[in-house]
Amino acid sequence: MIDSEYARAAPHDPENLLDRLSRPSTLGVNYEQIMQRERLLLDGRLGIASGDVLSVGCGWYPGRHLFPAPKFRLVAVDSNPECVVAVVETGQADEARVGYAGELGLTPSSFDVVLYRLVLHHVAYQGPLEPCFAEAADLLRPGGAMVAVEPGLWHPVGLGLAVANWAGAATAIHGTPDDIPLSPRQLLAQARAVGLVPELHAVTFSWRRLPAALQRGLAPLDALGSRPRVAPFGHTLMLIARRKR
Ligand SMILES: C[S@@+](CC[C@H](N)C(=O)[O-])C[C@H]1O[C@@H](n2cnc3c(N)ncnc32)[C@H](O)[C@@H]1O
Repeated sequence: MIDSEYARAAPHDPENLLDRLSRPSTLGVNYEQIMQRERLLLDGRLGIASGDVLSVGCGWYPGRHLFPAPKFRLVAVDSNPECVVAVVETGQADEARVGYAGELGLTPSSFDVVLYRLVLHHVAYQGPLEPCFAEAADLLRPGGAMVAVEPGLWHPVGLGLAVANWAGAATAIHGTPDDIPLSPRQLLAQARAVGLVPELHAVTFSWRRLPAALQRGLAPLDALGSRPRVAPFGHTLMLIARRKR
């Protein structure tokens, strides 16, 4: 078991069941599909072609594939100081700082996009998500948008993950207890509660652990991901929540 140095992150056990079974090339098929779908959804739905982006929980990949330079100036924040140094060194972010989601203390109305990519489902393990939504609404300029990409609770894998968390088996199965799949209804409600106008999409219905051939076979289904009745059942969801002009 590897203990994390960062106060609120959960420990990660690399000797878990699913990581022993999954090949990096299989996971890679899913990561490619997700990036392609994210670009497609944002190109079609975001309506923001340039501006200032805040990537909260930037990790090692702050979202440059979605917000390329020089059109977008990308400010990255993470609780892990190593990520903060790395994303500036590699040019993936224009500026970066250490900070915690929901308590960043940045200037209000100073960003066109606030991105939480695969972050809120970790924050949900640490505490309530309301401060993150409130912070995004506060930091966005009129017409700007919060974008969140997160695992959904209503997908079979999300439900399985919730059961594993409840049973205390998540660390043995996939290495960590801090992946909390998020309810699509809650995501929409929390955005509305802070005055944002939300829409929900499924990025993908597939799962990175499925055999590569099966993932490729399922990929065309993802084109249905913007239909309101099926979007909430995605494995990976995208919330786009706009601040009114
Ligand atoms: C799964 S990674 C996602 C990284 C990146 N956004 C991406 O799409 O690859 C989650 C990141 O969120 C960061 N994180 C977790 N809790 C946080 C918090 N409360 N505030 C800021 N960052 C946090 C972690 O350090 C980690 O880098």
